[in-house]
Amino acid sequence: MIRRAKIAGTGAYAPERKLTNANLERIIDTTDEWIMSRCGIKERRIVGEGESTSTLAHIAAERALEMADMPPSKVQAIIVGTITPDTMFPSTACYLQKSLGCGYAASFDLLAACSGFVYGCGIAKSWIESGQYDCILVIGAETLTTITDYQDRNTCILFGDGAGAAVIVPSDDDSGFLSMNMHAELDVTMMLLPAGGSRMPASHKTVADRKHYMSLKGREIFKFAVIRANKMLQHEIETNDIAMDDVKYIIPHQVNMRILQAAADRFNMNVEKFYVNLDRRGNTSAASIPMALDEAVRAGKIVKGDLLILVAFGGGKTWASSVLRF
Ligand SMILES: CC(C)(COP(=O)(O)OP(=O)(O)OC[C@H]1O[C@@H](n2cnc3c(N)ncnc32)[C@H](O)[C@@H]1OP(=O)(O)O)[C@@H](O)C(=O)NCCC(=O)NCCS
Repeated sequence: MIRRAKIAGTGAYAPERKLTNANLERIIDTTDEWIMSRCGIKERRIVGEGESTSTLAHIAAERALEMADMPPSKVQAIIVGTITPDTMFPSTACYLQKSLGCGYAASFDLLAACSGFVYGCGIAKSWIESGQYDCILVIGAETLTTITDYQDRNTCILFGDGAGAAVIVPSDDDSGFLSMNMHAELDVTMMLLPAGGSRMPASHKTVADRKHYMSLKGREIFKFAVIRANKMLQHEIETNDIAMDDVKYIIPHQVNMRILQAAADRFNMNVEKFYVNLDRRGNTSAASIPMALDEAVRAGKIVKGDLLILVAFGGGKTWASSVLRF
């Protein structure tokens, strides 16, 4: 019998500082009404003094380990999905290994934008199933507000900061990941962080030209996300031979309420099938799925045995989905 990987504990952390639509109205030419109607976001959390991606991830990871009743010393690998690492190197995962006290656990960051957490679960799933490891910490953590241009009203309304974590171990019952699908297709026009890498190293000019901030084409992303979400859901339902009625929640990348509504309409299902905390957290890229998952678990909305679908899509382009029994 194949060894299956399951989530033994979840954790999340959002910084205390809030950035509300009312706050944004004072910075840019926008309104609460416009943001709510176009995105469904009311407020986001943003990092404060002394906080970074790894400090958010640390708290989320501690909470996940506590739920899993797993001491940090038992963690054998740490995978952090992020596009906003503390430093390019050492990796955010290495900072965490030290701060959590995870011995010499294999530690690295994974860059798949908003799909980073699901990609990380995909790697963990394979490593657990192969028997190589017995305990892997998968984290999605971001401080997107550090790469958000608050002079660009098209984008700065969307993003927030936060971290979510999952402890992945071998399953001893029918719980666990049943499927995992990960894909990508290069697209530099839809969404990009232009400078800071080897294609455009940091310079006075890149700073002056505001090239260290995310640029995105909202309408293109909108279309991509709706179509992809639909295709991924269709694929997961068919290949796992399940019905949507069997699924307790779809935990989607928290991108935009209109995107989720359009995806639900295309699938002919109630939008409430999607677990959403976008209104209070904004789009937190790789952190959004594990943060939403943890919130639902701690609220008792997801309990052991529930069937879930994770659906992610983001810059790259990347996309990934998974069916799991919690
Ligand atoms: C960004 C997004 C909310 C914009 O919504 P939209 O309906 O496509 O809006 P448009 O870009 O067509 O802009 C419509 C108008 O609103 C204006 N506008 C843009 N941002 C605004 C803001 N914050 N407040 C008020 N008006 C705004 C635009 O300038 C435009 O005005 P114009 O018609 O006079 O030119 C939407 O495209 C979206 O959510 N896309 C997905 C983005 C995303 O989540 N990216 C992250 C990837 S994971």
